[in-house]
Amino acid sequence: MILDALTKGMRKTIIAGNWKMNKTPSEAKALLEEIAPLVKDAKCEVVACVPYVDLATAVEATKGTNIKIGAENCHWEEKGAYTGEISTGMLKEIGVEYVVIGHSERRQYFGETDETVNKRTKAALAAGLKPIVCVGELLWERECNITNEVIARQIKLDLWDVTPEEMANVVIAYEPVWAIGTGKTATAEQAEEVCGFIRSCLKEMFGLEVAAAVTIQYGGSMNDQNAAELLKKPNVDGGLIGGASLVAEKFAAIVAATALEY
Ligand code: PGA
Repeated sequence: MILDALTKGMRKTIIAGNWKMNKTPSEAKALLEEIAPLVKDAKCEVVACVPYVDLATAVEATKGTNIKIGAENCHWEEKGAYTGEISTGMLKEIGVEYVVIGHSERRQYFGETDETVNKRTKAALAAGLKPIVCVGELLWERECNITNEVIARQIKLDLWDVTPEEMANVVIAYEPVWAIGTGKTATAEQAEEVCGFIRSCLKEMFGLEVAAAVTIQYGGSMNDQNAAELLKKPNVDGGLIGGASLVAEKFAAIVAATALEY
């Protein structure tokens, strides 16, 4: 705990928007142009993860700004007969830096498993992309007191065969499924508890030095009102923001909250 507080300042704080299935390319351009001046003095890394068809526009619209662009998924094969899929090479070529992997909506609605999350994560790393790997428990898993088991299993399987060196490019997002899009935020204590637990899992897998350096975000109804309290926790190194990332002032306020003293 003391160590976590000491190492927090050494980790990269990352505020990433997850736009989900929102905004057409022209709307994406307009929103990014609205966000850019508001976050230009950010003390953290600022990322917007946008729908595939918005990516090229988003990369263009953020040239010369401090906003990095991410995709919301990627396939693990380089190319081939995978109708409807997008490869890491395609993302890389247009200037994408981050990619969200294993979001609970992909797991819930599109059959994503820990095995496919692992394959996508390794493919993203091999291509030089930075995966934001999402983990989180369902409400009934929390109620059954198996949050730690669920999280440990996801972390172990999703990061299987990832090397300690590659971990320098991995971001973890802890997103309790019951808090996503529901307006029910985990308390700062609940977020800290699980983010700290994730770090202890990483320590077991990769050693203390690697674990201490990994950015662990919280996600799930984070907004301009609750961000500061969550972000000052020793193991919460940023946020993955859904709804509030679609409103420039709210997203900028979350970015600004990273600069507050903790
Ligand atoms: P939310 O979504 O902020 O709208 O709860 C977070 C996420 O799904 O990444």
